[in-house]
Amino acid sequence: MARFTGRSAIVTGAARGIGAAYARALAAEGAAVVVADQNTEDGSAVAAKIVADGGTAKFSPVDVSDPESAAALADFVVAEFGGIDHLVNNAAIYGDMKLNLLLTVPWDYYRKFMSVNMDGALIMTRAVWPHMSARGSGSIVNQSSTAAWLYSSFYGLAKAGVNGLTQQLAAELGGSGIRINAIAPGPIDTEATKAVTPAAIVDEIVARLPLKRMGTPADLVGACLYLLSDEASWVTGQIFNIDGGQIIRS
Ligand SMILES: NC(=O)c1ccc[n+]([C@@H]2O[C@H](COP(=O)([O-])OP(=O)(O)OC[C@H]3O[C@@H](n4cnc5c(N)ncnc54)[C@H](O)[C@@H]3O)[C@@H](O)[C@H]2O)c1
Repeated sequence: MARFTGRSAIVTGAARGIGAAYARALAAEGAAVVVADQNTEDGSAVAAKIVADGGTAKFSPVDVSDPESAAALADFVVAEFGGIDHLVNNAAIYGDMKLNLLLTVPWDYYRKFMSVNMDGALIMTRAVWPHMSARGSGSIVNQSSTAAWLYSSFYGLAKAGVNGLTQQLAAELGGSGIRINAIAPGPIDTEATKAVTPAAIVDEIVARLPLKRMGTPADLVGACLYLLSDEASWVTGQIFNIDGGQIIRS
């Protein structure tokens, strides 16, 4: 099944981890993919591997916290692929984030963090939506986290903001035929998670999960592609927990 043949898709933060898995999966289903990241070396390698495997991909540098950089990325995609159909707002400061409390985090770091992890999704959406609107359709997936529902300081606050953005933007974008949803993953086994979460803490988290294992990027791919695809054509403004059962509402 190739749900994305003839479509273009931007995946931010696709130089590694979950974003790279999304980019590869979109390309495998026919999309022309733009691997967008501030990490040029790893991002270029992801795009080159997709091309070597028979897909269509380009790397473009981007800083999602910078509106000019986001606009340049959108222009690049239109120039390369004739328009923009899909966006995955996956980029975030995560693997190397500083751990601190909301009460004590240095203000400059907090502002920088929120500008990437929350505003980045809005900045990118503002850059691409006129191009989607020109085509009369488009779909966006925001990468949230179950951290939005749990205590995790400014990381969780940024993801709660991403959830709010998803809901508010659904109302603003729907009239242009553009859908926007979010995936809230539970703990996913990536290099970034290994860097930020000690193994003993991971073991404790896994012991509390109904499905008793960490997730993998592959566990998220199906939900991301579904939400981007026409199969989800009457789904917008929703937040989907893909989390091994971590969040169970009573
Ligand atoms: N791994 C998990 O357990 C987990 C769980 C829930 C949600 N998430 C979310 O999933 C996403 C990816 O997680 P991951 O584990 O693959 O992390 P990761 O750190 O490997 O990937 C993040 C990517 O974003 C890029 N990036 C950072 N700042 C950027 C900026 N300003 N502009 C452009 N690119 C930038 C990084 O270079 C990196 O390639 C993040 O949004 C993270 O918050 C991860």
